[in-house]
Amino acid sequence: MCGIVGYIGHREAYPIVLKGLKRLEYRGYDSAGIAIYDGKEIQLCKTKGKVVDLEQKIKEETPTSGTLAIGHTRWATHGIPNDINSHPHYSNSGNLVIIHNGIIENYDSIKKELIKRGYHFHSDTDTEVLVNLIEDVIKKEKVKLGKAVQIALNQVVGAYAIVVFDKAKPNELVVAKLGSPLAIGLGENEFFVASDASPFIEYTNNAIYLEDEEMAVIRRHKGVKIRKIKDDSLVEPYIQELQLNLEQIEKGGFDHFMMKEIYEQPSAIKDTFRGRLLADQGIIKVGGLEDHIQKFVNANRIVIVGCGTSWHAGLVAEYIFEDLARIPVEVEYASEFRYRNPIITEKDVVIAISQSGETADTLAAIKLAKSKGAFVYGVCNVVGSTISRETHSGTYTHAGPEIGVASTKAFTTQITVLTLIALKLASVKGTISFRDYNIYLRELDLIPKRVEIALKSNDHIKSIAKIFKDAKNFLYLGRGYNFPVALEGALKLKEISYIHAEGYPAAEMKHGPIALIDEEMPVVVIAVNSNHYDKVVSNIQEIKSRKGIIIAVVTKGDTTVRNMADYVIEVPETPESLTPLVTTIPLQLLSYHIAVLLDRNVDQPRNLAKSVTVE
Ligand code: M6R
Repeated sequence: MCGIVGYIGHREAYPIVLKGLKRLEYRGYDSAGIAIYDGKEIQLCKTKGKVVDLEQKIKEETPTSGTLAIGHTRWATHGIPNDINSHPHYSNSGNLVIIHNGIIENYDSIKKELIKRGYHFHSDTDTEVLVNLIEDVIKKEKVKLGKAVQIALNQVVGAYAIVVFDKAKPNELVVAKLGSPLAIGLGENEFFVASDASPFIEYTNNAIYLEDEEMAVIRRHKGVKIRKIKDDSLVEPYIQELQLNLEQIEKGGFDHFMMKEIYEQPSAIKDTFRGRLLADQGIIKVGGLEDHIQKFVNANRIVIVGCGTSWHAGLVAEYIFEDLARIPVEVEYASEFRYRNPIITEKDVVIAISQSGETADTLAAIKLAKSKGAFVYGVCNVVGSTISRETHSGTYTHAGPEIGVASTKAFTTQITVLTLIALKLASVKGTISFRDYNIYLRELDLIPKRVEIALKSNDHIKSIAKIFKDAKNFLYLGRGYNFPVALEGALKLKEISYIHAEGYPAAEMKHGPIALIDEEMPVVVIAVNSNHYDKVVSNIQEIKSRKGIIIAVVTKGDTTVRNMADYVIEVPETPESLTPLVTTIPLQLLSYHIAVLLDRNVDQPRNLAKSVTVE
């Protein structure tokens, strides 16, 4: 779960790689490093800390001239974050330099073997083992770098995206991938490699995404040659034209990506609708679904897998699929699903939800479901991501790049896609009346506007944040469709402010969490108009009688809860099943403001990374 960047071409490589690392920092940010090669000397600088710390260190001590460079931003797996464990790593001779994203699981036995053969190690990393294994192959087999990489990778178990170069080959980068993403940007006599396309988007729109178990030798003047690592067969490259633009990956006047992404939600949801929701004509058209609709209709059940926020979106989907399409749904943490022995048959449809499309546990759950014969459908944001390729079919959320580690627009657009699918299935199955179907379509069409209105409470929410920023604990409660929203609200607060928060179904409160309530405990209750409204009102009363402090999210014009709550935040009236799309907004803003007031690193909270490609 690290970010890797490389460049070989005719320009100065350092600024390109440095900028690329800044864009990839969302993938990991406990240490960073760069190696620059001018054809004579390799300059290598690395440090614990962020890319700005690396930049500062390089300014002080490292010449930066050279047209080949590789860089890395790390999220530690083997070895604590420190200068020595940071990448790039040299081989013992100093001739090979490598960066690596992933984990080599059998590194220990290889390391012992290499130590016996006289190799020594400076770091605790699996990566340093890999680069020395490659060096050992070069020496033993008398082969060139590309071949040595191939032979070495056939001996390792684990996951990797690597970039490696040899001092003796100033015109060559060798890259390989298994389980971690790797894109190659194709310019005019210049090549870029990176964990995603953001580091090279201003230079080229043409990219090759390596598949698992592929490697490529990239030669400055001769281009890219791709091979299968296992059998050495040549692979015809598939060049994709990228849709991404630079503006989408910059902050656009906001202090943080998270805030930019919260504010992008009205347009992100519109983008998710585009071409799919034709409310005036009463049509829903979901590309990836159309050819497979009978699989869903005839399924025994739908099993939804995901992690974190994506799992929460799955929980919302469970309500809407069962409500509208009357298909039984189970929602599972991908990380649990994959390690038990789930009963999955070819009559099941598995939906995998993932913003990044790279989450290792979700990917493993997909592979398991496929092996059991299920039809697997992906809901991903990142186009061309591993999960989008591994699934039988799927739908992109089209939310645009989400850079802040805390998921915001990914969540609402995932719910949007899943709602479209549920409605489509309901209409095909006839579990919804023609009238209700059309009402839903019109209501869905109004969601972007309602999200915009919900965003207008920002200043009010900021003032509430000021009051509660020093709270030690928060409780989030919701019922029905808004139970997953309570979970998501608590997750947002935890991950960016480091305040302990728990989400609960409001009715479960009396089975335990009520013991936590006292005059110190802020309780965020989602109390919008719904079938559960009266019950939620009763829960609020129970909290009030124990002196808890109520921050309530209510429907505009509500008076009952307003009279009971300490603070209220209004959202526009919305049909219950669509409320998660609007009630989520104030909770995102509340976490954001509390985190900013506490001076937290909102976009890159401690210990986290945007895409979790380790197990
Ligand atoms: O990329 P994915 O949606 O698969 O990521 C899953 C989780 O790691 C992710 O949703 C995480 O919980 C969020 N960063 C939380 O905001």
